[in-house]
Amino acid sequence: MTTNPFDLSGRVAMVSGAASGMGQAMSLAVAEAGADLVLVDINHAGARITAQQIAQLGRRAIAVDCDVSDPAQITPLFEQLDQQFGRIDFLGNVAGQGVLASPTELTLPQLEGVLQQLVVGRFFMCQQAGRRMLSQGRGSIVNIGSLASTTALGRSHIAYSMAMGAVIQMTRELSTEWSASGVRVNAILPAQVTNPGLLKRMAADPTLHQQFLSGIPAGRMGNPEDIKGLSVLLASDASSWITGALIPMDGGNTAMNAGGTPGHLQSD
Ligand SMILES: NC(=O)c1ccc[n+]([C@@H]2O[C@H](COP(=O)([O-])OP(=O)(O)OC[C@H]3O[C@@H](n4cnc5c(N)ncnc54)[C@H](O)[C@@H]3O)[C@@H](O)[C@H]2O)c1
Repeated sequence: MTTNPFDLSGRVAMVSGAASGMGQAMSLAVAEAGADLVLVDINHAGARITAQQIAQLGRRAIAVDCDVSDPAQITPLFEQLDQQFGRIDFLGNVAGQGVLASPTELTLPQLEGVLQQLVVGRFFMCQQAGRRMLSQGRGSIVNIGSLASTTALGRSHIAYSMAMGAVIQMTRELSTEWSASGVRVNAILPAQVTNPGLLKRMAADPTLHQQFLSGIPAGRMGNPEDIKGLSVLLASDASSWITGALIPMDGGNTAMNAGGTPGHLQSD
């Protein structure tokens, strides 16, 4: 009998941002592969809908109302995990927002808010999960970074970029510290993936969609579902020697030179 290296049966996963977008898609993906779930979001009604979808797959899921920028809410989140599941095999650190403000206008409270969410909050989630995974001798963590983790976006993304840069160094450091003890830490770096905020910005600026596409050789923006395959790969034993990796999920964006022309925009 062959074993399926992507099988997550009997594993427990926690995903933040599980009410919508990539967090919801990641949650459904690992549930479809067999995992039970702790679904974390400030949108409790949305997370409960994800929980119902997972229950229909025959898996167990609980929705927990938690703001991941607030360590005082993360501590009871993990206590609930301990009580209800007693272990954690996968953490998907997905939730966390930036703010748009130019380098000359960004206020320190705005900057601190973004760093609190994307750096302090994500680190505290990693620390809580990591302690438990290290004592189990096994676990996988995925941090969502961004194109802005490694390249500059302009357009008032200074706070977001600084925070997302820190997310990849967090990923590399934790991978280096923990991998010999069985705990892998990787990052997924998406390009533009449709979500309500992005759709609103594209509606306000009709040139933006074309500008995004000019940087995406695959010729389309991302959908939340594009994260499903990578999520299962990184959560499962199929990626047992992949750690500290920064994996672009970007339709070819980072491979292309800034002066390059994607095939779908070539005239001849
Ligand atoms: N969409 C993109 O183009 C893109 C690209 C690169 C990186 N990212 C990053 O990926 C992540 C997910 O993006 P998305 O497009 O799926 O977003 P989304 O807006 O579709 O979903 C985000 C979810 O996170 C929840 N959330 C927000 N702040 C929270 C908090 N403090 N605590 C708990 N839950 C919170 C929201 O309620 C929502 O359910 C974000 O960190 C984002 O910065 C997005």
